[in-house]
Amino acid sequence: MNEKALYKITYGLYVVSAEAEGKSSGCVVNTLTQVTASPVRLSVAINKENLTCELIQKAGRFAAVALDQRADLAFIGRFGFRSGRDMEKYEGASTARDAAGMPYCWENACARYSCRIIDTLDLGTHMLFIGEAEELEILGEQEPLTYSYYRNVIKGGTPKNAPSYQEK
Ligand SMILES: Cc1cc2nc3c(=O)[nH]c(=O)nc-3n(C[C@H](O)[C@H](O)[C@H](O)COP(=O)(O)O)c2cc1C
Repeated sequence: MNEKALYKITYGLYVVSAEAEGKSSGCVVNTLTQVTASPVRLSVAINKENLTCELIQKAGRFAAVALDQRADLAFIGRFGFRSGRDMEKYEGASTARDAAGMPYCWENACARYSCRIIDTLDLGTHMLFIGEAEELEILGEQEPLTYSYYRNVIKGGTPKNAPSYQEK
């Protein structure tokens, strides 16, 4: 098993968010992907320890943005290395809400997606959420941020809650 082969899987980077019972959070993910076209359905794998996981389960929905190449380490650090359990992620951020009231940050983002959860699969460490798209919008013409650009150009790392984490 050469786990370096897993680095050859290509991904984009996204922030997936939800709000429930007056609490909101959002986390960086590389696992958002479109799984069907008609209707449009997206899947995302979220670690059970992430506050975002609990909020998506309670809200029954999520909002997501596709990050673009303007996203820097400070921005990704806020949404990808810190938990909404310890800080208010959307405080001071350029935040809007979708029609269902889910918050999303439009800074450093080129598109957004809003989904209602239609199915959930327990994967052990992570929950796999399947969402049906209710809103899709282009936010800008910047290039989407890929995982390889993040690793190789921005020189960003991966925390243990990401499914793509590998011990050194
Ligand atoms: C590049 C990158 C990719 C990540 N991918 C995922 C992912 O696909 N799923 C996940 O659950 N966490 C992923 N994470 C980790 C979460 O973003 C991180 O645990 C976050 O701090 C959780 O915040 P929360 O507790 O407010 O939800 C990723 C982080 C980074 C930096």
